[in-house]
Amino acid sequence: MSNARVAVVFGSDSDWPTMERCVNQLRDLGEEPFVEVMSAHRNPDRVHQFARQAEQNGLEVIIAAAGMSNALAGAVAAHTCLPVIGVPLISGSLQGLDALLSTVQMPPGIPVATVSVGDAGARNAALFAVQIIARHDKKLAGAYRAFKEDQASAVAAKNERLQGRIGP
Ligand code: RP5
Repeated sequence: MSNARVAVVFGSDSDWPTMERCVNQLRDLGEEPFVEVMSAHRNPDRVHQFARQAEQNGLEVIIAAAGMSNALAGAVAAHTCLPVIGVPLISGSLQGLDALLSTVQMPPGIPVATVSVGDAGARNAALFAVQIIARHDKKLAGAYRAFKEDQASAVAAKNERLQGRIGP
């Protein structure tokens, strides 16, 4: 494994268009993640092995995403003491509601920090992982602060443009 501090794992390559947003957000802030497709249902042995070795491999936070019945985040959390962020993805007939409930409804004792469904959740998972690591990494904390400031400026600029359009 690389010297990544954040892992981004997801159930299928069909999840990549959404999870690419997570990876890009991490990279934008200077955090290069470990990325792998693994499935709690389809190759559970790999999930087990990954989660058991995650801490000794230098990881600090794991982002686990899947659509339909998302068992991945919970399965990873069961085998590691690292914080796990679950991303419910849109897939199948229920369009993410299934993944949301299966990610968020963890039994007591096995926490999974669940973010919103789909693209927004994918980005927020990256930001949350950065917030955790930034507690002991001043450079990353600075990058995160700059991101927040840029975001606030962008909203102010949008307001100014809108005010120009709607008139008095
Ligand atoms: C989940 O089932 C995956 O995370 C994906 O969202 C969904 C469909 O997977 P594929 O059939 O496209 O591989 O496990």
